[in-house]
Amino acid sequence: MAFYTLKLRDDDVVEMLDQRKLPLEIIYVELKTYKDVYDAIKDMIVRGAPAIGVSAAFGLYLGAKSVLDLPEVNSYETFKKKFFDIAGFMFSARPTAVNLGWAISRIKELVETEGKSVDKNNADLKKIVSRIRAESLKIYDEDIEINKNMGRYGASLLKDGFNVLTHCNAGALATAGYGTALGVIRAAVSENKKISVISDETRPFLQGARLTMWELMEDNIPVTLIADNSAGLLMRKGKINAVIVGADRIASNGDVANKIGTYQVAVLAKENNIPFYVAAPLSTIDINLESGDEIPIEERDINEVVTVFGKRIAPENAKALNYAFDVTPNKYVSAIITEKGILYPDYKKSIAEIFRK
Ligand code: MRU
Repeated sequence: MAFYTLKLRDDDVVEMLDQRKLPLEIIYVELKTYKDVYDAIKDMIVRGAPAIGVSAAFGLYLGAKSVLDLPEVNSYETFKKKFFDIAGFMFSARPTAVNLGWAISRIKELVETEGKSVDKNNADLKKIVSRIRAESLKIYDEDIEINKNMGRYGASLLKDGFNVLTHCNAGALATAGYGTALGVIRAAVSENKKISVISDETRPFLQGARLTMWELMEDNIPVTLIADNSAGLLMRKGKINAVIVGADRIASNGDVANKIGTYQVAVLAKENNIPFYVAAPLSTIDINLESGDEIPIEERDINEVVTVFGKRIAPENAKALNYAFDVTPNKYVSAIITEKGILYPDYKKSIAEIFRK
């Protein structure tokens, strides 16, 4: 793979591939402050649940470093207060992907733990900041490893010759690398199975047309683009053998929040007796939520719907709705592929069990 989604450079600059510009331009942006990282998440320079989590971790490191320079920060307590304010700010960047909060909580816990072992007034704050750096890099490395494990488990579900439909982009671009749903496809292909991917265009941000098409074509994995409203026809014609998508948040009962349009694909899959698989790391499962009804659904600017590449496609002053995600009830989900194995219904039980392991 000749590209990378994001990285923290040795000179403490976060570099990200600008996903708003793909596939027409391949541009890496340099982010030097935690505010830059916040904006990059909010404006979708980076997107995809795991990539958002990793970005937040890098952003918090930049934030922690900047706190050290504040004149009023002269103790562990003053450091922690300012740092937690930044964490709260970062948390507000996007609401649906739980990986954002998950990564932030992990770094906050580290700061809490470090606080227990230091003399609070003479804390070696620089040491804490360097631990935050190391933790953020660990989150990055782990993400790739987790995706590869998910791929190994999930590949068993995809048979040689399968046509697999995917929605949105749950690939290397949505993670630190390799991908969740596309990671499973990559793993199946690396086992020499002939897999062809059908990619929904995924209006309005076009993650399917712009991102999934681009990254799979870069890897020479056969992929065909369809308009979002074509899935039903192809399924009825017997042209789809399985659906595989990623997730932004999964409730403890197995309800899945993912990119808007996922729900209708899942319903169509069930109607046509096609398995509907979700590939997601355990960090995407929000065990605090009983059902998908509790998942916050992001609403974005309606300009994303009424314009395409800056050109209006609806009358001036047209009303529009722009929900970024929907929830697929667990009854449509054939299996959830995680880094620790494949979960099947009853999800309440299988999810509780995997967290006990
Ligand atoms: O709005 P986005 O592009 O961040 O939404 C991304 C998705 O819905 C992905 O399918 C999901 O995050 C899984 S990514 C491995």
